[in-house]
Amino acid sequence: MNKRFLLLSGWVMIILLIACTPDEKIKEVTPPPETELKRIEDIKIGFSMDTLQEDRWFKDRNLFVEAAEKAGVKVEVTVANGDDVKQVWQTEKMISEGIDVLVVVPHNAESMAAIVERAHDAGIKVLSYDRLVRNAEVDLYLSYDNEKIGILQATAMTALVPKGNYVYLGGADTDYNAHLMKQGVFKVLKPYIDRGDITVVFNQWTKDWVPEVAKTNMKTALEVNNQQVDAVIAGNDATAGAAIEALAAHNLAGSVPVAGQDADLAGVKRIVEGTQNLTMYKSIDDLSERAVELAIKLAMGEEIQEDRTINNGKINVPSILLPPVPVNLTNIKETVIADGFHEEKDIYQ
Ligand code: GAL
Repeated sequence: MNKRFLLLSGWVMIILLIACTPDEKIKEVTPPPETELKRIEDIKIGFSMDTLQEDRWFKDRNLFVEAAEKAGVKVEVTVANGDDVKQVWQTEKMISEGIDVLVVVPHNAESMAAIVERAHDAGIKVLSYDRLVRNAEVDLYLSYDNEKIGILQATAMTALVPKGNYVYLGGADTDYNAHLMKQGVFKVLKPYIDRGDITVVFNQWTKDWVPEVAKTNMKTALEVNNQQVDAVIAGNDATAGAAIEALAAHNLAGSVPVAGQDADLAGVKRIVEGTQNLTMYKSIDDLSERAVELAIKLAMGEEIQEDRTINNGKINVPSILLPPVPVNLTNIKETVIADGFHEEKDIYQ
């Protein structure tokens, strides 16, 4: 009897002990991971840019730095001017000198994959800014919906030119944006092509988005097709402007519709003068502010709700894609002027 009583009370003691031991105590044993403890003012962002060749990139750099300073974080910017080795070296240096998050605009989507791995080895997360790094475990991709840009370009152009010969001047094939845009363009053109209404008589990438390359390609397209060209879709306004110069040499500027993107000042001015028909406005304010906000969250180890994912050949990258705005002669005021992207006087002078 006594033995049984002793045994039972012993068990009760043990169970009570466990029950009375407050849980918190156990949880406290595992302190939270290092990143969550970072203070905003301690954060340093490394912003690795490909180029400042186009107007927009000056805005990206200046507005990104402005937004970072406003948020109270430090930022270091490097520009590789289209040189892959230089971009890898610059980024490697920022990582070894200590950054808390890497924001990268890759010149070459594939070459920067190694840098993503290097950053992760150093415990640094990577945000792909505007352009996606391919075949790497990118933590977050923030851009405009580039396939949608292609779809909107081709939708506007097929409304203007439902039948005829099209020239496609793609962006740089090292830039995954150019591939996404082209995908969108040909998604829209396909039924027209299948019906035989539209023929793409020339279709070329533009190395490094260099306008001179696009101009040479457009000259070739006009020559090999005896100037029988009815519409041009170009990767951006800089290459659209180059195509229009080539058209002008054959007195075709203004009579052959041309689509671009970026809404840079020259592009919007050509829309006013009638030699370009469409561009795509992408607010760089929104993109750069969003990027700084998200980079800080990545550095702090905070959760980020993505809109969707994009497969980059290795993983489905969590992505946030902002909506591009088509701009033509009818809505310049409501878009680029209203947003202060361009001054009215600069467009119409
Ligand atoms: C693309 C970008 C465009 C463009 C181009 C040339 O990746 O989305 O806005 O201008 O690069 O740098």
